[in-house]
Amino acid sequence: MERELALEFARVTEAAALAAARWVGKGDKEAADDAAVTAMRVMFDTVSVDGVVVIGEGEMDEAPMLYIGERVGMGVPPQVDIAVDPLEGTNIVAKGLTGAIAVLAVAPKDSLLHAPDIYMEKIAVGPEAKGRVHLGAPVKENIKEVAKSLNKLVCEVTVVILDRPRHQHIIEEVRRAGARIKLITDGDVSPGVAAAYSNSGVDMLMGIGGAPEGVITAAALKCIGGDFQAKLCPYSEVEANRCKQMGIANVNKVFAIDELVKSDDVIFVATGITDSFLLKGVRYDKRRAITETLVMRSTSGTIRHIEANHDLDRKPLFKDRRIKKLLENIN
Ligand code: FBP
Repeated sequence: MERELALEFARVTEAAALAAARWVGKGDKEAADDAAVTAMRVMFDTVSVDGVVVIGEGEMDEAPMLYIGERVGMGVPPQVDIAVDPLEGTNIVAKGLTGAIAVLAVAPKDSLLHAPDIYMEKIAVGPEAKGRVHLGAPVKENIKEVAKSLNKLVCEVTVVILDRPRHQHIIEEVRRAGARIKLITDGDVSPGVAAAYSNSGVDMLMGIGGAPEGVITAAALKCIGGDFQAKLCPYSEVEANRCKQMGIANVNKVFAIDELVKSDDVIFVATGITDSFLLKGVRYDKRRAITETLVMRSTSGTIRHIEANHDLDRKPLFKDRRIKKLLENIN
């Protein structure tokens, strides 16, 4: 993929973040999601790719999402797979909390895991612990390995876990192991990626979250050199069958990072909506808005943080009739 594409995709997540940011704290997660999805669609129409959403939020009949199988881009080469979450952290935006981003990953056709929007068990670590942790190994062992790899004491290792009843046993095991825990309300992509930043305050992410978020996190960690393993968690026969229809023969398989993201040519892009482990959220300054976007490419290993200062009165995004219509409905 041409490197210029990374910047094109940055404009896509910037648009989603700018649109969703208007809904921060308004208690309406559907409207915020709708705004992010619509803005992404508007911008995708300008990107020179022939893309298909292979994993994302929801299926065709669950509009308004960018559904799995949806074609995006201008329909010209290169053919690419897209994993997307226009608004990662719908509740976060609705409540005005920290950790919401607009995010996507792009790789050549047939290289990102094609799976339904179901749960996925994950473990994410940074480059130093690559190859030293295993999904399914005792929590204590994985934490010990991370501590050793980072030259930290176990009591200095921080594990991020979604605050859910289903994670009570992991929380207890981490506590018994003696490590620190940061419980988060939502949004496991940011901390998963942050595990690869040595000064982020996050050393590991563990637990069950969304499968699209998992593939997106894997794409980022592939760019940055971290490690990620995952296992799909179909909670019904219907979900298991849907996995099989999408080509996953063994739903109990533990996927390594290179099986979730098969190509070495991956682009990861995320723009902050509210402040997070990784990025500052959208800030307003008179008639301008400032965004921070993280852009990574696995081929070069370059990590860019792009701060953009948008003129809200001149931005074509806000002149698009689909966006205007959404903004009219904001109270
Ligand atoms: P949404 O943005 O779709 O609300 O997802 C946020 C999120 O917290 C993800 O980061 C996480 O992977 C998943 O939801 C966890 O799902 P659940 O809230 O059902 O436990």
